Amino acid sequence: MDFKGKNVIVTGATRGIGRAIAEAFAKQGANLAVCGTHEDAVKQTVAQLAQTYGVKVIGRAVNIAQADDCEALVAETVKELGSVDVLVNNAGITKDNLLVLMSEDDWNAVINVNLTGTFNMSKAALKVMFKKRAGNIVNISSVVGEMGNAGQVNYVASKAGIIGMTKTLAKEFGSRHIRVNAVAPGFVRTAMTDALAPEVKEKALENVALKRFAEAEDIAKAVLFLASEDASYITGHILSVNGGLYM
Ligand SMILES: NC(=O)c1ccc[n+]([C@@H]2O[C@H](COP(=O)([O-])OP(=O)(O)OC[C@H]3O[C@@H](n4cnc5c(N)ncnc54)[C@H](O)[C@@H]3O)[C@@H](O)[C@H]2O)c1
Repeated sequence: MDFKGKNVIVTGATRGIGRAIAEAFAKQGANLAVCGTHEDAVKQTVAQLAQTYGVKVIGRAVNIAQADDCEALVAETVKELGSVDVLVNNAGITKDNLLVLMSEDDWNAVINVNLTGTFNMSKAALKVMFKKRAGNIVNISSVVGEMGNAGQVNYVASKAGIIGMTKTLAKEFGSRHIRVNAVAPGFVRTAMTDALAPEVKEKALENVALKRFAEAEDIAKAVLFLASEDASYITGHILSVNGGLYM
C-alpha cells in the first residue's frame, strides 16, 4: 500500500486509534492533517509525526461538532498540503449511562461530536473531493453500532447513524469516484477501554473469539486497506474488526 504524496486528514489523531491510523498512513508516505481537542497534544503529534516519518504534517485544535472548525481544518489542509485525498472520521467520545439516568446534555454531546462531527467533516471534505472527482472517506463506527449495548444509547445511536451515513454517502458520491466505507472496531486497548472496570473487561473478552482486545494498529490496518487501491471496488461497506465478538 503506497500513499506517497497523498494528503490524508485524520480526526482525533492525538492518541489512541486515530494516532495509530495517522502513524500507519505516515509510514506509507502520506502527508497528514491531524486534529484533536487539545492544542498542546496536537502540536506534539504534528512534531512527532513529521520528525519520525519525514512527511508534511499540519494540525489544528478543533471541535468537530462545530461546522466552522471543520471548514477551517479542510481549508488549511488544501492551502498547506494542496488537496484532500482521504478523510478518516475517527474522533469520538462516550458519556455512558442507562437511558433513564442519561441527561439530555450527555445525549446531545455524544450525538454532536460523533454523528454531527462526522457529517461536518464529510461535508467540508466532500466539497473538495467532488470537484476533483476523486476521494476516499473511512468512518470509524463501532461493533456496538451493529449489535446495540445497554448503557450506551447515545453512543450506539451515533455509531449506528455513522453506518447509515456511510452507506448513503457511498450512494451519493459513487458516480464521482469517491468511495465511502466504515470500520467497526470491537474492544480496542486505548484510554477509552483502559477506563473500564476489570470485571467489565473480563466479561467482554468472554465473547471475543480471538480472546484478546484489538491493538489500535489492528484497526489502522483495516482503515488503510479501505482507503487504498486494493479496495478499489469496495464502497458502502462496514468492515467489522472485532476479533469475532459479533458476526
Ligand atoms: N477504544 C475502543 O475500544 C473503540 C471501539 C470501537 C470504536 N471506537 C471508536 O474509535 C474512535 C477513537 O477511539 P479512541 O479509543 O482512540 O478514543 P480516544 O479517547 O483515545 O481519542 C479520541 C480522540 O478524538 C479527539 N476528539 C474528541 N472529541 C473531539 C472533538 N469534539 N473534536 C475534535 N477531536 C475530538 C481527541 O482529542 C482524541 O484525539 C472513536 O470514534 C471511538 O468511538 C473505539
